[in-house]
Amino acid sequence: MHGSRLDPPLVGECFTQEKWKGEMIMTRMIRIFDTTLRDGEQSAGINLNAQEKLEIAMQLARLNVDVIEAGFAIASPGDFEGIRAIAERVKGPAICSLARAVRADIDRAWEAVRVAERPYIHTFIATSDIHMKYKLKKQPDEVVAMAVEAVKYAKSLCPEVEFSAEDATRSDWDFLCRIFREVIAAGATVINVPDTVGYTTPEEFGRLIRYLKENTPGIDRVFLSVHCHNDLGMATSNSLSAVLNGADQIECTINGLGERAGNAALEEVVMGLRTRSDYYKADTKIVTEQIHRTSVMVSTLTGVQVQPNKAIVGANAFAHESGIHQDGILKNRLTYEIMTPESIGIGASRLVLGKHSGRHAFRNRLEELGYVLEEQELEKCYQQFLEVADKKKEVTDADIEAIIRGEIAVLQDIYELEYLHIASGNTTIPTATVRLRKGEELLEEAACGDGPVDAVYKAIERITGIALKLKEYNIKAVTGGKDALGEVTIKVSTNGHAVTGRGLSTDVIQASAKAYLHAVNKVAREQLKTAGDVAEPKLKVDI
Ligand code: KIV
Ligand code: ZN
Repeated sequence: MHGSRLDPPLVGECFTQEKWKGEMIMTRMIRIFDTTLRDGEQSAGINLNAQEKLEIAMQLARLNVDVIEAGFAIASPGDFEGIRAIAERVKGPAICSLARAVRADIDRAWEAVRVAERPYIHTFIATSDIHMKYKLKKQPDEVVAMAVEAVKYAKSLCPEVEFSAEDATRSDWDFLCRIFREVIAAGATVINVPDTVGYTTPEEFGRLIRYLKENTPGIDRVFLSVHCHNDLGMATSNSLSAVLNGADQIECTINGLGERAGNAALEEVVMGLRTRSDYYKADTKIVTEQIHRTSVMVSTLTGVQVQPNKAIVGANAFAHESGIHQDGILKNRLTYEIMTPESIGIGASRLVLGKHSGRHAFRNRLEELGYVLEEQELEKCYQQFLEVADKKKEVTDADIEAIIRGEIAVLQDIYELEYLHIASGNTTIPTATVRLRKGEELLEEAACGDGPVDAVYKAIERITGIALKLKEYNIKAVTGGKDALGEVTIKVSTNGHAVTGRGLSTDVIQASAKAYLHAVNKVAREQLKTAGDVAEPKLKVDI
């Protein structure tokens, strides 16, 4: 039977036993519900296509999250397709779609997730006075009735049904107990307490969670989840306080992406629990060694940079700058290090392959890194690897992962870079000549620009007729050394729509050209797809 804590539908064990300071202690296993692809993707300036969402979802499965909220199926055909592709391909975690508490949303959500190994529907309605009165224009009784009907309907389709009381932290506590009691009776298996506007504090949120546990009949039969936003910078603390007070599941995103100031960051809550399991008496199933790789992938694909001093995944998170600290670290790492970089997967990179390595060795290494590619993908990545190995003395795991990020995304190129020549210098007007292949056709143009990158972009624009506005341009070296691969990430806009592009090469101008072409190909593919029919706009849903 679903929903019984004695027979939990998604986790094998709620508790593990561990030895701590000579004593056996019970560690609660907290479920991790990742919403990078829904709440994260919903944030300003992020627009992932179905292929990119699938790539991230596969990585989230390697990270071993319990639930992937893959999108909001009714929001757009693109969202629907992305969820459906993830439901078809990603095994392990439950695959979830969001749905408002109405039948049309639930039908669409079910259509998207039904093929999953473990389908999961997440339905929600607002419960605070301010949301019910001004946004929903409904009486509390009507809201309860809608919630119950939605949960009953969702449960008639799907074994796992989560109900969220939107803006819970500004809702009346007894009203929350009432609506949760009713949706549990209607079949919800998870109830979620969102701090939608990031308003609560750790102590207050902890009290709310305890109150709900003590005053909601049936609550012990379901998972109690929390979903915190970071408007006051307290999302992680609030989530952890909820765990101390009985929450079973944390909803979070990689790098803390999400609406406005974002959601609780997965890496922070997970490492908080792991590092202080003595205090929280709780842990997760997350393979923490995959955290760094996931963070880099999400940052690259979304085009959202991680601030250098960001906890756990920032570039400086493990850098010890001051002399006193360095001295201490050399004497004993524990003087200033509460977690090791290795525990999140940093520093495991090593020299792996050279230019004489064959396809077989390349495939083996990819599998060791956790990637299983289709034949066509493997071939493209291998060709790029050979090019890199030819120019670079040492090809590291980080290089290989960058190749995968770069190459998988450009499988269905419409335009391919055939030839690039630039003239640039302190007394020369920067000029670029670009030749692109489009099927059998070779197209060539030249252009001048403010700099070599600008000239290349203008030449590409002349050839393709696709005008993009460059909003952001970032370049970084994948590894150290003069022969390092340069990875360029750009964000462009077209008709108010954000598109990201990325390119990889030991030549930074070529990497810049590839990044621009990557974005151009995405736009060209969209244009082909929607030619003839009217593109359905993304639904604006107030969350
Ligand atoms: O922040 C929020 O309230 C949400 C709900 C849909 C869970 O994202
Ligand atoms: Zn949210």
